[in-house]
Amino acid sequence: MIDIAKQVEEIRDEYARERYTFIPGDRMEEILLGLGATPEDIEALRTASENLAADPTLRFRESRNGRFCFDYEQNRLQRLEFQPFILTKDEDFVRHDSGKVREFRGIQDDLQLNTGFQALMRFQAAVTRDIDVQRRPKLDYDSQQRVSTVFHLRTITTPKLVGEPAAEGVHSDGVDHTMTTLLGLDNITGDSAVTHVHDPRQKNGLRWDEVDEDLVLGRHQHRHFLDTLLIVDHELKHTVTPVGAEDPKSRATRDMLILFTRHPTTEEHASHPYDSLIPHNEIPLDIQLLEGDGHGDDRRSDETGHPRRRSA
Ligand SMILES: [Fe+2]
Repeated sequence: MIDIAKQVEEIRDEYARERYTFIPGDRMEEILLGLGATPEDIEALRTASENLAADPTLRFRESRNGRFCFDYEQNRLQRLEFQPFILTKDEDFVRHDSGKVREFRGIQDDLQLNTGFQALMRFQAAVTRDIDVQRRPKLDYDSQQRVSTVFHLRTITTPKLVGEPAAEGVHSDGVDHTMTTLLGLDNITGDSAVTHVHDPRQKNGLRWDEVDEDLVLGRHQHRHFLDTLLIVDHELKHTVTPVGAEDPKSRATRDMLILFTRHPTTEEHASHPYDSLIPHNEIPLDIQLLEGDGHGDDRRSDETGHPRRRSA
């Protein structure tokens, strides 16, 4: 078995140095196994995007979301109650639905009880825990808790519709850390969905092909199952190219898990009314995070590898 603490430490060091890092899927798979995932559950993630719902504002997307809390004081990961979602221009997100309160269908037990999914969250919690980031206004940086809003998304291109993983063009996601993990691809062209990482001086809202090349810091493409990109969100911006269909007569799909993680909001923040730290009552989840600085035990034990249900 791999030394999970060493792996997490290596990635954390690179992330702290570079401010973004790309982790190939085969390495991620090893890490997830070390963080409590079963091989069967990891395999199940490949088809976990089959029952998503219509997106509230984007026609070319199916989605679900859910809010989770990394509580570093209690060393727990908890599902938080349902709340709507809002992202504003003030947070470097310029799109027709900026500032609109959006209500997504909720992530269900089929995903949140998947030990591969849980390990992904443990991974992000461990890697980002001690990273100092440029502070966003109106977030509580003294808190030992983080709010992680997970989006489970399928971007769809059809003969009539082009799927845009980031129709907003150059943007940030209003958080401290954005993590994107590929679950599946079908019928997409080789140049689809390339993520460009931009210097923060790049103007918001520009399309990926309108940007200043001198401000492009890196390009990464999620091609393989579990390929993962982690970005210090407030220090960099990003774009993603559209999804093209290899066979243009058929549908093309790209399935992703996106973890938007930040400190809790203060009262003045636009998201504050939707940022409660109350656990979810109907579909609770309460499991252990990796110990403090990544030097944890073997997470495969029953006690930590399986969710502990809260009494509703
Ligand atoms: Fe984004």
